[in-house]
Amino acid sequence: MKEKIDPAKIPSHIAVIMDGNGRWAKKRGAARLFGHRNAIQAVRDVTEGCAELGVKNLTLYAFSTENWNRPKIEVDGLMSLLISTIKKEIPTLAKNNIRLQPIGDIEHLPVEAQKNLDLGIRETESNTGMILSLALNYGGRWEISNAVKKLVERIKENPNEVDTINVDYINKYIDEHTAPEVELMIRTSGEHRISNFLLWQAAYAELHFTETLWPDFRKEHLYNAIIDFQNRERRLGKTSEQLVKK
Ligand code: IPE
Ligand code: IPE
Ligand code: MG
Repeated sequence: MKEKIDPAKIPSHIAVIMDGNGRWAKKRGAARLFGHRNAIQAVRDVTEGCAELGVKNLTLYAFSTENWNRPKIEVDGLMSLLISTIKKEIPTLAKNNIRLQPIGDIEHLPVEAQKNLDLGIRETESNTGMILSLALNYGGRWEISNAVKKLVERIKENPNEVDTINVDYINKYIDEHTAPEVELMIRTSGEHRISNFLLWQAAYAELHFTETLWPDFRKEHLYNAIIDFQNRERRLGKTSEQLVKK
């Protein structure tokens, strides 16, 4: 499968909605947390697969601003899984030259999670390879609201800049590492929606949906999504003929 990938057309930014852990566990008669625990191998596989292919940015949706509405036992379980996993995976990230960058409302995560994230950021900050953005307590609307807040503060001090507000200007207030356009967005588990993920950055993303549940997702599934992406014609508003002429 990997040989079918054109190395000259690797998507620069891949975003993944890792969905289906609960159903994966249910199929096995187990509790939902069992699914979340078995999701870690998929995270490792996809992270390594993307790094090997030379993807520049990988953004993984791990916990949404809406996921707080789940039963407390699941939220608590997810948080402790997060805390232990980040710490455990730091050496592997360092070894693969991957830089870890959380995105989302991190200040409202448990203190222990914040500490481990800080450690992960520090230990990987000089890495020059792929940027792995982990979306935690993340919501696209939260991110845009937050950007607007910062932007308004700036405009209060510099009212003349109002006329210069454009996409590039706004980009600066959106989390810097997620600002590169998402080229490929993958969602597992057969759901066909964006669920408040990277609303601004995915304006022109190619969407790839697969029935595979996240804990079963491996490099082969990633390759399949990239091949699907490479077979699309990304017209970005132009006509097909214009693209051929170029
Ligand atoms: C995705 O799997 C993981 C998180 C949202 C944290 P789910 O837990 O949503 O699994 P399903 O969709 O219920 O199967
Ligand atoms: C989206 O999955 C969030 C994450 C993968 C972290 P959900 O399972 O929470 O999304 P909905 O509720 O089905 O839209
Ligand atoms: Mg789900």
